[in-house]
Amino acid sequence: MRSFSVLLTAFVFSCVEKFLGPTPIQSYISTESAIAQAGVLANIGPDGSKSSGALSGVVIASPNTYNPNYLYTWIRDASLTFKVITQKVASEEDPTLRAKIDQFFLSQVHIQTLTNPSGTESTGGLGEPKFHIDETAYTDSWGRPQRDSPALRATTFMLYANYLIANGNTTWVTKNLWPVIKLDLDYVQNYWNRTTFDLWEEIPSSSFWTTAVQHRALREGIALAEDLDQMDVIPGYVDQANNLLCFQQSFKNSAGGYFTANTGGGRSGIDSNTILASIHVFDPAAGCDAATFQPCSDVALSNLKVYVDSFRSIYSINNGIAGNAAVATGRYPEDVYYNGNPWYLSTFAVAEQLYDAVIVWEQQQVINVTSTSLLFFRQFISDVGSGSYPASTSTYSTLLAAIKNFADGFVLINAKYTPSDGGLSEQFTRDNGSPLSAKDLTWSYASALTAFAARDGFIPASWGAAGLTVPSVCRSNPGPTASVTFNVYATTNIGENVFLVGSVPELGNWLPENAVPLSSQNYPTWSANITLPGYTSVDYKYIKKSRDEIVWASDPNWSWRTPDAGSATLSDTWR
Ligand code: NOJ
Ligand code: NOJ
Repeated sequence: MRSFSVLLTAFVFSCVEKFLGPTPIQSYISTESAIAQAGVLANIGPDGSKSSGALSGVVIASPNTYNPNYLYTWIRDASLTFKVITQKVASEEDPTLRAKIDQFFLSQVHIQTLTNPSGTESTGGLGEPKFHIDETAYTDSWGRPQRDSPALRATTFMLYANYLIANGNTTWVTKNLWPVIKLDLDYVQNYWNRTTFDLWEEIPSSSFWTTAVQHRALREGIALAEDLDQMDVIPGYVDQANNLLCFQQSFKNSAGGYFTANTGGGRSGIDSNTILASIHVFDPAAGCDAATFQPCSDVALSNLKVYVDSFRSIYSINNGIAGNAAVATGRYPEDVYYNGNPWYLSTFAVAEQLYDAVIVWEQQQVINVTSTSLLFFRQFISDVGSGSYPASTSTYSTLLAAIKNFADGFVLINAKYTPSDGGLSEQFTRDNGSPLSAKDLTWSYASALTAFAARDGFIPASWGAAGLTVPSVCRSNPGPTASVTFNVYATTNIGENVFLVGSVPELGNWLPENAVPLSSQNYPTWSANITLPGYTSVDYKYIKKSRDEIVWASDPNWSWRTPDAGSATLSDTWR
């Protein structure tokens, strides 16, 4: 019965197409997918037509050099771009792209080793968000570290590794790919619980997107390590994957019906951070699992509705659009970057989440409506109740058709605001939809390709989201420590000694009686070597203690942040 109706629908569509020509969405996708694929390739060195100066395998964010200057390589953008390319190779859709992956791989082998403002390869440097396109470190100030990058890069390389293993290249993977993947996964294991800038490079706190992609990376790392017989890493990865999955739940804002994007930042927390998370952790084998925020989970659908609705009244290009129809969406409603506008990649991500949901509902042959997702589904059937609707019911078919149509609506919004040459910038203006900010943004093109693939029913490989149990108690992970040498130049009177006291337990929590004694071996420089938690803000002061008095150095306190790991030396002068 069902296959008959599917055939019938397909038949009707092909007739419609024959007589009336392709529907608007079909014609947009058929022209735009070629443009998007070409747009991605143009932005990859050394021979991409718009990537002038980028070394081999280096992905530029955009060729735009002014207002804004995006002629850099961001590890996030590059990894997400190569995720798409690797998927095309792994699915045998376009084997010719394989050489590009190898170039990207070699570029990352080098970039991983660069000492940069976030540290070295082993002391946190993998969290550095962006580099020059000649593969040198970017040393100006920036929102760093961004701890999603290593996870995303690992995921892309694991996709490649699994493809190569399936094709009998395990030895090469173990020897070449695994060490690079392991560096990134070890970073995730060690540092996931440290403060990070969010993916928009603005808020230093913890971030849902970052947590979700880190969790995914460690899970697929566990499976890959098993395949490659690298058993030693597994206990640590399992431990921290469980902790990540537990922490991921804490972003839930039940009253608001959404997941808060960041623990800091003081905004509503409604953010395409979470939509992107759902599409990048999509694992069809996990069904509509809520704990891993699958696209069709009730929490992720409720979140999608809250997110989409937050843009209905703030962008004037959304005026007059029905309250249950697609609109243009941006990073987050409070955004002020270029005045805060819709982004192509955010709008595509909504479509993609919905297409992913459709894939799973069609696989399962059932749609479940819960009290959490009720308002989402009531956009399409205003009196639908909680319950389970198998494919034989008209509720199922009505919902499925309406949601596909809703998803197409987001693609059509982007289509409407795509200029006639098909180029995708970063944003389009909230007032009239004209392209804005960086031109030919690689990530915009990549986001078009993944949304189109999802609409086509592309089923990504599983990463191990199925059957996980959220631990009942969440554990944090302080991560590595830093060895810090404090030196202070201080002349003293006989009977006086210099001590160090400060805001962390290792420095006595500001209690002079618990201050750390410094050695006068290099008088008048007094020193001590102290192990402190990595990446931690520390306020401190030196004090002189004698039998009958304590003299504090004058204000202000010294303030400093420890490195992620490794060692550091401070040279202060008594004041
Ligand atoms: C540049 C960042 O890339 C962007 O994400 C951010 O919004 C602006 N700086 C403003 O902070
Ligand atoms: C700004 C975006 O906020 C950030 O996510 C991205 O990595 C850079 N631009 C480069 O495209």
